Amino acid sequence: MSTLHGRTALVTGGSRGIGRAISERLAREGATVAVHYGQDEESARRTVKEIEAAGGRAFAIRAELGTEGDAEALWSAFDEHAEGVDILVNNAATGGPRGPVAEVTPADFDRVFAIDAKAPFFVTLLGLERMRDGGRIVNISTGLTHGARMPEITPYTMAKAALDAFTANLAKTVGGRGITVNAVAPGVIDTDMNAAWLRNPEAWAQVSAMSPLGRVGEPRDVADVVAFLASDDSRWVTGQWIDATGGGLL
Ligand SMILES: NC(=O)c1ccc[n+]([C@@H]2O[C@H](COP(=O)([O-])OP(=O)(O)OC[C@H]3O[C@@H](n4cnc5c(N)ncnc54)[C@H](OP(=O)(O)O)[C@@H]3O)[C@@H](O)[C@H]2O)c1
Repeated sequence: MSTLHGRTALVTGGSRGIGRAISERLAREGATVAVHYGQDEESARRTVKEIEAAGGRAFAIRAELGTEGDAEALWSAFDEHAEGVDILVNNAATGGPRGPVAEVTPADFDRVFAIDAKAPFFVTLLGLERMRDGGRIVNISTGLTHGARMPEITPYTMAKAALDAFTANLAKTVGGRGITVNAVAPGVIDTDMNAAWLRNPEAWAQVSAMSPLGRVGEPRDVADVVAFLASDDSRWVTGQWIDATGGGLL
């Protein structure tokens, strides 16, 4: 079933982790996928190659988010490969440093907000100039914005809460064009972002126990939800925060 045949998608941070799984899934549905990355060109190339090897279409684009002119740089790289966009997935983010709230510096705070809130805001504004009516915007949030489970990454959670507010407000703004805007909120997923602490047996068991389904989430668990929101099947869902934590907040 090719639900996205003829569409063009941009996945920020589409080269690794959850973003990579989203890129692969959207490509499998027939979309041509712009696989965005910041530093790790090798991973972006590998993702594009694997999509192509599976019969899909993709290209890599680089732009360092959180820097002056980031959104402009991203879209001018995109424009070299494609004309217009149908699906935008704001996935790239940083967790920032972990530690007590009292130790957060203004520089750390600004960097997290620049990458996790300001960049998706302006990437989306410039993206809307290129987006065809009926398009789809999916923002990758986090289960942490509902509750207070990890105070050691408070600036990250605050930035994602800003993204949630953007999601709902933007849905009202662009609904007249048939564009939907939704947020998907994963719980802990086995990616590089968590590798340092998650891949020891004790942490793994603890995280598995957080979900009634009794296991750690995988990137494809999130990608499959994004694929639904990117498809026509989700046409009557907009402005929503979709819990993709495996029931971890119950
Ligand atoms: N993993 C989890 O447990 C979890 C839970 C809840 C929510 N999330 C959210 O899910 C999304 C993906 O997380 P992940 O775990 O898959 O992350 P990841 O494995 O660390 O991958 C991050 C991706 O974003 C890109 N990126 C990061 N900072 C960037 C910057 N400043 N400029 C440009 N690109 C940048 C990276 O590209 P380069 O490597 O090239 O820099 C990479 O493609 C994020 O929004 C995260 O907040 C994750």
